[in-house]
Amino acid sequence: PRPILLTRHGESLDNVRGRIGGDSVISDSGELYAKKLANFVEKHKFSLQVMCNDKGRVEIWTSTLQRTILTASPIVGFPKIQWRALDEINAGVCDGMTYDEIKKNMPEEYESRKKDKLRYRYPRGESYLDVIQRLEPVIIELERQRAPVVGDISSVLRALYAYFADRPLKEVPHIEMPLHTIIEIQMGVTGVQEKRYKLM
Ligand code: F6P
Repeated sequence: PRPILLTRHGESLDNVRGRIGGDSVISDSGELYAKKLANFVEKHKFSLQVMCNDKGRVEIWTSTLQRTILTASPIVGFPKIQWRALDEINAGVCDGMTYDEIKKNMPEEYESRKKDKLRYRYPRGESYLDVIQRLEPVIIELERQRAPVVGDISSVLRALYAYFADRPLKEVPHIEMPLHTIIEIQMGVTGVQEKRYKLM
């Protein structure tokens, strides 16, 4: 079976400012990661050949947000597909705020999320359960094609990772998803094997 590669986007300006959501570009450090990622893909091109889909191609999947598209942009020679379903959790009225601002200005929201992060839905936004549901078509395609998903974001990546690494639903919102790291998931007869490449 072919492995699947997952990675978050390179550090974004909103990451630097500690703001959630938004659609900011990547920082200098994020750009450095994007270059390293492209080198990694270039270097592993031959093993990536086995990850081609039913059209015989390796595809790079990103969300529709700038930070993921920019992270994948130095990778050349592969078709890139943008999925809206891969966009970050919609933080609704909290989009653009820091966690401290939410805690100060909307303490009930902050507490309810802390109590049940899986089910908590941001006002006019989404919950992790919503994200998991909208990822279903992506998972079906990913199972079929095993495309490397590059330039993705934390809530979405946690859900995809949990699905492939067989982690229970309640753990999904709490899985550690570091920046600047590639996660390779390989499913075999003896279970799931995982390798992490920390590029920076
Ligand atoms: O801070 C980066 C970010 O991707 C936000 O845009 C998003 O709301 C958050 O992480 C998701 O992580 P958590 O669910 O742990 O708040």
